[in-house]
Amino acid sequence: MTNQPSDAVTRRTFVQGAGLTVGAIAAGCSTGQKVHPAGGLSADDPTIRVGLIGCGGRGTGAASQALRADPGVILHAMGDAFPDRLDTSRGHLETQFADRIAVPEDRRFTGFDAFQKVIDSDVDVVILTTPPHFRPEHFKAAVAGGKHVFMEKPMAVDGAGVRSILEDAKSARAQGLNVMGGFCWRYNLPNRACYERIHNGAIGDVTCVHSTYLTAPLGTKPRQEGWTDMEWQLRNWQHFNWLSGDHIAEQACHAIDKINWAKNDVPPAKAIALGGRQMRETPESGNVYDHFSVMYVYDDGSRCFHDCRQMPGCWNDNTEYLIGTHGTCYVNSWGPNQEIKGRFPWSYEGPNPNMYQVEHDELFQAVRGKRDRIDDIDQMMTSTLMSIMGRMSAYSGRPVEWDEAMESEDRMGPRTYALGDLPVMPVSVPGHVASWNARETASV
Ligand SMILES: NC(=O)c1ccc[n+]([C@@H]2O[C@H](COP(=O)([O-])OP(=O)(O)OC[C@H]3O[C@@H](n4cnc5c(N)ncnc54)[C@H](O)[C@@H]3O)[C@@H](O)[C@H]2O)c1
Repeated sequence: MTNQPSDAVTRRTFVQGAGLTVGAIAAGCSTGQKVHPAGGLSADDPTIRVGLIGCGGRGTGAASQALRADPGVILHAMGDAFPDRLDTSRGHLETQFADRIAVPEDRRFTGFDAFQKVIDSDVDVVILTTPPHFRPEHFKAAVAGGKHVFMEKPMAVDGAGVRSILEDAKSARAQGLNVMGGFCWRYNLPNRACYERIHNGAIGDVTCVHSTYLTAPLGTKPRQEGWTDMEWQLRNWQHFNWLSGDHIAEQACHAIDKINWAKNDVPPAKAIALGGRQMRETPESGNVYDHFSVMYVYDDGSRCFHDCRQMPGCWNDNTEYLIGTHGTCYVNSWGPNQEIKGRFPWSYEGPNPNMYQVEHDELFQAVRGKRDRIDDIDQMMTSTLMSIMGRMSAYSGRPVEWDEAMESEDRMGPRTYALGDLPVMPVSVPGHVASWNARETASV
């Protein structure tokens, strides 16, 4: 990974980059990228070979959406940490797309180096759907191999990972590669219509957004005979913060992305957050918190708020409430339902296809050169870092500025990966927290 402070993208340069992209899109121009089927794909070859890295629930879903998106797509190689996960996924896909799952035994890879073997096996597009800790390393290898990328959210769990992806983005752009992020609401047609109106001034200047992701806890897998610490943590990855980034990054990042979308992808100046862990008790529930509450402070004086919770038996909600200078907007992600009130009232009446399918339909059109190159990198990394800032502030009990999060040297997780011993880092206590690096050293 590229972690040097001198390589860090400061908030100022990031804002400038985001502004250019938004400006170009607002003007109805292409982003200046050449439209062509890059990534080694021949314009005459009807086949697009896909490699799946991380064959769990989302990876299997994304692969089937890729196969539905374009009749020339075949699944060519698969990689996962564990053979049973790969086999389950392959079996599921074969029942739906029998003749398009071309993954013989020598293109089924398992272990921590499976990603590289998939990338090296003559694929055109990779789907990156492991736990997010591994995403920066997998993205780096995919870009080095000249592959188009679909990568799930969040894209990293720490500042080091964010910087690594932003650095590799330069090469992805230079090669004309498509890079799509799994912030799927950006591909939801009702939400798109709504946010387009917001950007066109339907509620005036957006002075406040409140987003929620209040839900029940995710399931856990009790430890099995023979599982090492590493395997046990990987199989319960959502509950170990080095793997997931905590639930504010892993799950609630969707609702934080909605704040970012409303604010035109301009990063906040700082985050001030509270959080804690009240109702997680079993060993499998790891070291993540179960609630966070964050305030994002922007340079324009506006403040946005986000609350997320994973607790049983509580009120659940996944909504964005936008307040503008001459109206309000309500977007319910579980509806889905969106409505603008005020000077220009509006509600959506158009089609609402499956947003995950829309993602892949658009990606493969772009891979074939039938639409502009897709480059979600700036927006997805802003939303990812916003989630990380929220966690850093809640864990530490103090405000965290954008540049501090971006330049942070705190890299979560082990330096090398092996199925062996791996102590669980203690739950962070606000006001007492040391950096991940310091805690790791202390626990050795
Ligand atoms: N956009 C969405 O709506 C949405 C929905 C669900 C999940 N996700 C995201 O998708 C990603 C995967 O989530 P999931 O629900 O599919 O989890 P999952 O546990 O079902 O699948 C993850 C898979 O990755 C494998 N894996 C773990 N470490 C690996 C490594 N180093 N190399 C290769 N394989 C490895 C696991 O064995 C597992 O099969 C996460 O980032 C999650 O946040 C997004």
